[in-house]
Amino acid sequence: MAAGSGVPTLELARLSRGEVIGIDIDQPALDKFAAMIAESGLSDRAKALNCSLINMDFPEETFDIIWSEGSIYAIGFEKGLREWKRFLKPGGFMVIHDEQGNISEKLEQISKCGYELLGSFLLSKETWWIEYFAPLEKLITKAQTKYFGIIPLENVYGQTENREGECFSR
Ligand SMILES: C[S@@+](CC[C@H](N)C(=O)[O-])C[C@H]1O[C@@H](n2cnc3c(N)ncnc32)[C@H](O)[C@@H]1O
Repeated sequence: MAAGSGVPTLELARLSRGEVIGIDIDQPALDKFAAMIAESGLSDRAKALNCSLINMDFPEETFDIIWSEGSIYAIGFEKGLREWKRFLKPGGFMVIHDEQGNISEKLEQISKCGYELLGSFLLSKETWWIEYFAPLEKLITKAQTKYFGIIPLENVYGQTENREGECFSR
């Protein structure tokens, strides 16, 4: 859900060998995602769909798994849990990767909304560095070299540094 770049959705399609629908409202991102689906030979099992996660109109009990990767913030944690429940098949699973904060409150909301909590964990600082900030830093350096003097990338870089501070309260 909220496929964005499509990377997590494609990985899920590969790992599960099931059918996967990646939804988002960012059409340019969905176009890239659709191209990636075609390139990866997964067109028979993966689909990019322009649809808002705020008003989805899938039939009830459509999905075995709803996977929200960095997107439930758009509807709100508790509201998302409540609204999306009807799209799950009985015994289906919901996986949510959300920003840190109000963790105990969110865990309570999970059972309050009628789900059984199977587990939860925090991503380590190291994981964020290796998987997110280090590649991002490389891309920024590459862009700074390529567009030197054309776009004031120093501003972008400054924002990234601030964001890191927010995430980890350093
Ligand atoms: C933080 S990104 C996560 C993207 C992707 N899940 C990933 O992990 O790479 C958030 C995504 O949510 C999408 N989004 C925001 N509001 C949305 C909405 N109402 N319906 C569907 N997607 C939405 C954005 O377009 C963006 O692609």
